[in-house]
Amino acid sequence: MKGVQIGEGLKLALYVGFFLLFVACTPGLPPHAEYSQYRSFPTTNLDSCPEGRKDGLSDPDIIFKGKIKGPKSFASYNGKLYTGVLNGYVVRIDDVSLVPVVKFGTSCDQRWEDPKCGRPLDMKFDKDGALYVCARIQWNIQSRRRNRRSGNIYWTHYSTVFELIDLLYTNYADPSGRFMLYNATSGDNQVLIRGIAANGVALSEDGESALIADTLSSRILKYTIKGTKAGSHEDFAIDLPGQPLNILPDGRGRYLVTLMRLPRIVSMAWYSPCLRRMFSRLVYLAETPLRWLDSNFFISYLRRLLHFVRNFEGISRHMPKIAVVLTIDREGKIIDTVCNFDLGSPFADYLSRVLMKQAFPQLAD
Ligand SMILES: *[C@@H]1O[C@H](CO)[C@@H](O)[C@H](O)[C@H]1NC(C)=O
Repeated sequence: MKGVQIGEGLKLALYVGFFLLFVACTPGLPPHAEYSQYRSFPTTNLDSCPEGRKDGLSDPDIIFKGKIKGPKSFASYNGKLYTGVLNGYVVRIDDVSLVPVVKFGTSCDQRWEDPKCGRPLDMKFDKDGALYVCARIQWNIQSRRRNRRSGNIYWTHYSTVFELIDLLYTNYADPSGRFMLYNATSGDNQVLIRGIAANGVALSEDGESALIADTLSSRILKYTIKGTKAGSHEDFAIDLPGQPLNILPDGRGRYLVTLMRLPRIVSMAWYSPCLRRMFSRLVYLAETPLRWLDSNFFISYLRRLLHFVRNFEGISRHMPKIAVVLTIDREGKIIDTVCNFDLGSPFADYLSRVLMKQAFPQLAD
């Protein structure tokens, strides 16, 4: 009797093993992306805030709870703050209300069709008060920075293979994002760096270099715009204690960098291209009946489920809730870290606010 049981168990394990091997190794299965690169995981990891900086982002005011979804970046002009949200709007944050300023994409239900909504990702005012917004409308475009002296725009996209909604696939595949220049003279876009998970961009004050957050490699790259090294790039800050998203000059020659932390289910498979490919394919396989049903019948419940699986929101619930802002000097050295270990999510439905003199006393005047 016992022998039979072990036999059955072994058989099942063999079947599962063969199935996984088939999924991992058969050439040409979707999703179609590269899974070749060995990817190193940062050795430093922030498990708690450095001593003395624990209260940097603690006890924030939580405002507009339930009225806002997925604010990613801010811009300010004339003392007013602006941000972009998941339903495609850029809003101005007044004392008691959010005032719509501009809408990207088309009308949509943000709960399950945000590819239609448009997604303002990063924005900046120029000195004349014109707002430049980088938004994903049909494809995965991310931040833009305008170089005021020349009118050129430096911008990034995170992936050239997957749509923004497919963050799970994007984060498993080899990075395919790029750092780009929109050349105002010629009207063309040029690729400056390719094969990175490019996120935020910041120009140096003298306009001679640009910093690019390479999210999945936990590093910041420096691209030289002028001088003898023009056109080349190098590591600026490596082995950051998380994945960098936005970079903001602090107006005093340093930079503020926001970090997130990827969920374990993504970082677990980090070292092995084969595992990353297998996980992506398994998720794709599981999604296939949902996709088929969705394209043939409209069932709102199914569409929401598919959306939930695709856009990382399901997984992001298990993401470490951390909000970290680093201050980095001109040489790329971390000089300060403030954090909060109970807040922080790309799908947050609130804004949090702390006083400048609490988080960055040196910047509060
Ligand atoms: C922009 O295009 C012009 C005309 O093609 C070219 O002369 C110039 O070098 C380009 N600028 C940059 C920064 O590549």
